Amino acid sequence: MKNHIQELLQKSLAKLSLNYDIPENIAENIRLDRTKDKSHGDFATNLAMMLTKVLHKNPREIAQMLVDNLDESAFIAKTEIAGPGFINFFISDNFLTSSLQAMADDERLGVKTVEKADTIVVDYSAPNVAKEMAVHHIRSTVIGDACVRVLEFLGHKVIRANHVGDWGTQFGMLIAYLEKKENEAGQGLDLSDFEAFYREAKACYDEDQEFAVKARHYVVLLQGGDKYCLSMWKKLVKMTMDQNQKIYDRLDVTLSSKDIMGESLYNDMLPQIVDDLIAKGIAVEDQGAIVVYLDKYKNKDGKPYGEIVRKQDGGYLYTTTDIACVKYRVQNLHANRLMYFIDSRQHQHLDAAWTIARMAGYADDSIEIEHDAFGMMLGKDGKPYKTRSGGTVKLKDLLDEAELRVGKLLEERNCTLDDEAKKAVIHNIAIGAVKYADLSKNRNTDYIFDWDLMLSFEGNTAPYLQYAYSRIRSIQRKTDLTLGNFILNEEAENDLATKLLAFPEVINQVASKAMPHLLCTYLFELSGLFMRFYEACPVLKEGVDEEIKRSRLALCSLTSRVLKQGLALLGINVMEQM
Ligand code: ARG
Repeated sequence: MKNHIQELLQKSLAKLSLNYDIPENIAENIRLDRTKDKSHGDFATNLAMMLTKVLHKNPREIAQMLVDNLDESAFIAKTEIAGPGFINFFISDNFLTSSLQAMADDERLGVKTVEKADTIVVDYSAPNVAKEMAVHHIRSTVIGDACVRVLEFLGHKVIRANHVGDWGTQFGMLIAYLEKKENEAGQGLDLSDFEAFYREAKACYDEDQEFAVKARHYVVLLQGGDKYCLSMWKKLVKMTMDQNQKIYDRLDVTLSSKDIMGESLYNDMLPQIVDDLIAKGIAVEDQGAIVVYLDKYKNKDGKPYGEIVRKQDGGYLYTTTDIACVKYRVQNLHANRLMYFIDSRQHQHLDAAWTIARMAGYADDSIEIEHDAFGMMLGKDGKPYKTRSGGTVKLKDLLDEAELRVGKLLEERNCTLDDEAKKAVIHNIAIGAVKYADLSKNRNTDYIFDWDLMLSFEGNTAPYLQYAYSRIRSIQRKTDLTLGNFILNEEAENDLATKLLAFPEVINQVASKAMPHLLCTYLFELSGLFMRFYEACPVLKEGVDEEIKRSRLALCSLTSRVLKQGLALLGINVMEQM
């Protein structure tokens, strides 16, 4: 509620600032106190007094101006100007309790589905074929998946696009090496270690003349649609994606094989796209290559930057594919919003592709195209997160380690669950912690990967939220009392109630900004307010009036539902007991 009133005051100030020069720090530091005496309302501010020097008016007059400019709010029953120029706010308890009841009666917890659904293509995860998913893939995968869940919950039509790196000249080498391995191993070929596979293929290519010639020949055959090469290539894609699917399942990520829309999907479109760009005068020939000059980027020597869309040798590039990709997503998939969860370092590449796609008319202004960028995952030393020996960390190894650590943690806490239940708890805490560590930071920034922080049961972590949930559920299990009407007498009850009511707004913000950390922050603050409420307001204690008990139980119930739903939208499981 405090936030809500502060926002109202900020808006009111903003209106005044059209006519007066109001320093920014005043709007940022609006003081709002709880009143001690209820006859003065629930909150009071001295804002008018802070403005006397700026507006050269008497504070009561300023208070009146502020009140006159307040937006309507159903939460505010009335305002009053008191003493030298305080503004007192009276909260409408009725409105608060009835809104809370409506939220509790709604299985969607007050989150409305959108009136007009967007068709949204969400490009996320996008690992590369014949490589194992590395730790950096977790960012796109986990943040993208949380956004997908939120968008679908709001009723949008979401198309998951796993833009797998499944094409390129390296496939000649990979096919040649797969062939070699198959000849050597016969049936029992094990490719679980793609790292080694790729490394060895490269070594053969560099050292073995004959192999290199064959590899180059296979690229040409593959591009020409040769049956044998295509079938070998398909094998590589399938083996990689089968392995990645295990990671997705383990991560509780909603991607499946039907979401694969790899780079190769666009191959057939590329020649025609380049022709079209030339015909429209957007691309020109330059020393045999086809280039689009973009004024918005300048080279070192101040000339427009040239983006190559077809190389001298006739080959197409990553950018050409991303141009085709826009066209496909708009024209074939009929999307009106394209979201790309990709590393911030690819920004210029994406922007160039989209600029060209827009110039060519593949996406008009009604189509939103957004780079939902994220920073890097760093080690405690502030450098990219690596193994001890400086190699890339495999995602699988990271998840193994997370489960190992949680297992130990549970042992230390003398966990009494049976083996089966324990296994599930370990999975949920470990995966939850790793995902949440990523989700809870503003995605635009780099973040420091720190086992101790993310596995802590205190602070803004998944284990803390999961634990808060289990604790509330155990309170609920202890009683046969049914949920009652909301009665909000105590400050802690009021605070919790207002926070609960903010849930729908947060979900909508996550959807529009593609920022799951807003939901994390919300759930963390909600849990904090719940803990405060639980300390200040005994729920089941003897001597508490039954109607109050039942109201407090209703608050417990609603809080646990919001926690569960919120975490589910982040792709994190809760447990009844842990
Ligand atoms: N496979 C690429 C990589 O690992 C990411 C692809 C992102 N999506 C796209 N449409 N470019 O860097």
